[in-house]
Amino acid sequence: MPALVLLGAQWGDEGKGKATDLLGGSVDYVVRYQGGNNAGHTVVVGDQKYALHLLPSGILSPGCTPVIGNGVVVDPSVLLSELSGLNERGVDTSKLLLSGNAHIITPYNVTVDKVTERFLGKRKIGTTGRGIGPTYADKINRVGIRVQDLYDESILTQKVEAALDVKNQILTKLYNRRAMAVDQAVEELLGYADKLAPYVADTVLVINQALEENKVVLFEGGQGTLLDIDHGTYPFVTSSNPTAGGACTGAGVGPTKISRVIGILKAYTTRVGAGPFPTELFDEDGEALRRIGGERGVTTGRDRRCGWFDAVIARYATRVNGLTDFFLTKLDVLTGWEQIPVCVAYEIDGKRVEELPYSQTDFHHAKPVYEMLPGWSEDISKAKSFADLPKNAQSYVKALEEMSGAPISAIGVGPGRDETIEINSFL
Ligand code: GDP
Ligand code: IMO
Ligand code: MG
Repeated sequence: MPALVLLGAQWGDEGKGKATDLLGGSVDYVVRYQGGNNAGHTVVVGDQKYALHLLPSGILSPGCTPVIGNGVVVDPSVLLSELSGLNERGVDTSKLLLSGNAHIITPYNVTVDKVTERFLGKRKIGTTGRGIGPTYADKINRVGIRVQDLYDESILTQKVEAALDVKNQILTKLYNRRAMAVDQAVEELLGYADKLAPYVADTVLVINQALEENKVVLFEGGQGTLLDIDHGTYPFVTSSNPTAGGACTGAGVGPTKISRVIGILKAYTTRVGAGPFPTELFDEDGEALRRIGGERGVTTGRDRRCGWFDAVIARYATRVNGLTDFFLTKLDVLTGWEQIPVCVAYEIDGKRVEELPYSQTDFHHAKPVYEMLPGWSEDISKAKSFADLPKNAQSYVKALEEMSGAPISAIGVGPGRDETIEINSFL
């Protein structure tokens, strides 16, 4: 039962899209299990660059069936435009499967996301403004709209009425905004029904049958471990579970089926939006990481906050996800530094702390304790094996592996599919 989970080990944007695409040619299914179009996964194939937000990165591998699982929140207009954009570029998207149980990001949820952020003022989360949080909130409040509701106008209308009942009170009385009309929302949603119909399926059944037939299934996470609603830096998180357990609930597979959990780990750290980030840099090193690493958001175009590698976070990701492997990305970006600081522990109120504190107050006070590792100046982008790397780059990788608690099985030395050093096979 080769079922693999591939997820972000930090705050997102670790290179999940590239890693998924790399495996896409050898797997039968790639399943997104949580999040929505807050994700931005970049895949570079030859001279072509693709930015995927909602579609699993396996969509670019012709033999692979891409699946949007029940745990994902789907903005139908984004999905349809992403599909037509790929079709225009000659990518066949006809195999896509969309769970009938996935929740829909309605136009009013996008509005609520933006209005809420504005009213939070300086306490805002810095969301992507795509309606993710309000859609998951509706799901938990049991007033959400699911893909299957598009095929029963009467049920859809009742559900939109129920959802807007409370929301319109909040919008008009609390936020001083105009109420949203039920019939307008229903009409817009019904307009997507026929276009989505060819893709809608019982994806839980499909995935489990595939596993019974010994097909290879890869579960592709959005966001990252520290953005997890339960295990991340709450409240500065997204509203779903990117951690490994999320693959089980968000795709409908039992934990006993998962054979491998791969954490995608950047050789330094980035974060978009608000929230604590102990190794964040505000100097020219941070600027250099941003420039060399091209650290600008794929979804919102915001500059990413940049900092040194944080081993405390990597260890935490190993633990909460049960990681079996790491895929270390963007090692090439660190070329040229004489010495590279790596955070090995925190100092909190004068005490050395080796593990991520569960308390938000403590984490806000965490100061990084750095160890200096020697850098390298040679171009590593053509390296094909571990032995091709300069000695100091090898030592950097080995040091990170030792601190992080799981083997580093692949190393990214550039954005392209072939710019990867494979150490242990994932399949
Ligand atoms: P994701 O959200 O985890 O899929 O990551 P993003 O696509 O948001 O950001 C990762 C960026 O780094 C993308 O622009 C990738 O093309 C790029 N990238 C991925 N792996 C490597 C690598 O090993 N080296 C370099 N230089 N770039 C990489
Ligand atoms: P990928 O899949 C980085 C961040 C937002 C914000 C917080 C909540 O490309 O790694 P949301 O819109 O989800 O309610 O915003 O989460 N965030 C991401 N940061 N990469 C992502 O996705 C992200 N998706 C959400 O910036 O801080
Ligand atoms: Mg991204």
